[in-house]
Amino acid sequence: MKKVEYAKTGQLINRLGFGAWQLGNTEFWGYMSVEEGIALVKKAIDLGIQLFDTAPGYAAGMSESIIGMAIQDCRDQVVINTKFGHTADGETDFSVFSLRKQVTDSLERLQTTYLDSLLLHNPGFDILEGKSQHIQELKNLKDEGLIKAFGVSIDTKEEFDTVLDNLDVDIIEVLFNVFFQDVSESFKKAHQKGISIIAKVPLDSGWLTGKYDEFSEFEGIRMRWDDETISRRAQLVRRLKDLTGAEDLTRYAIAFVLSFPEVTAVIPGIKNIEHLEDNLKHAEYKLDPKLKEDMMKLYQEEIKDQPLPW
Ligand SMILES: NC(=O)c1ccc[n+]([C@@H]2O[C@H](COP(=O)([O-])OP(=O)(O)OC[C@H]3O[C@@H](n4cnc5c(N)ncnc54)[C@H](OP(=O)(O)O)[C@@H]3O)[C@@H](O)[C@H]2O)c1
Repeated sequence: MKKVEYAKTGQLINRLGFGAWQLGNTEFWGYMSVEEGIALVKKAIDLGIQLFDTAPGYAAGMSESIIGMAIQDCRDQVVINTKFGHTADGETDFSVFSLRKQVTDSLERLQTTYLDSLLLHNPGFDILEGKSQHIQELKNLKDEGLIKAFGVSIDTKEEFDTVLDNLDVDIIEVLFNVFFQDVSESFKKAHQKGISIIAKVPLDSGWLTGKYDEFSEFEGIRMRWDDETISRRAQLVRRLKDLTGAEDLTRYAIAFVLSFPEVTAVIPGIKNIEHLEDNLKHAEYKLDPKLKEDMMKLYQEEIKDQPLPW
């Protein structure tokens, strides 16, 4: 797989990263033991994955801890992207003076001396508009070598554009997939500023694999969808199956995201070795330009004016 530079650090990475929200996250994503999590991370590294996307709030710190335990003999082979603002205790704390302490806590769980990158984890518009001291404090942490790069993790085009207009960041992680395409209009501008874009939720939380329909029942974090949302997603999945002629949509979903050259990396959430191997295989697939056009048209006609909830 072609490698790309990560967040102005000079480090080259594989464009397929590892979404680590699922690691050890029994409450939101189903059972995974610590041992299974460690084995999964080690296997991912063996197979060439470098970028791991985690956060203190994922599985109450366990996602970071699992990564920390798995990388002890290969720290320099991995790129760890973690976040600030939602703590392992389940608190929301965006206060500037807690930044250093939250970073130190993450370093401890990850058993490392530096973070490859730190993102503000869905901060409010006051921060995105640059009305706070966060960027200055992040620059201080960077100067001290505790973090190598920094940025934000956000969800919408409006937030993305606000960041571009107001903040000097290395990375923007954003919700981007076949069902959430709006933000792609702003990718060029970000790229021109040298900002790395990380695409999160590339499989629409599992829907874009093609394995769910209107009769599917969800637990954990996916209990957020009401019947109407499930039925609408199921219809859209059927439209995609017609367009691709395939039942398994995973490769088209990943290839769609990677077909945007400004996207530095995509981070599907991975729960087991089957997902890992499958996603690695799909990351090599090149999307036919006509199919990409059809997928963009589907968004324009069916979703843009009536956006889906996350
Ligand atoms: N606020 C934030 O910063 C934020 C928010 C959301 C996500 N993220 C990051 O982005 C990552 C990805 O987002 P996400 O996990 O929410 O959504 P996602 O990547 O769109 O979907 C992940 C789910 O898809 C299914 N899946 C993955 N690979 C598969 C495969 N090859 N075949 C079949 N099913 C597969 C798995 O669930 P099932 O098998 O159970 O269906 C998995 O849990 C997260 O892990 C996290 O690191 C960040």
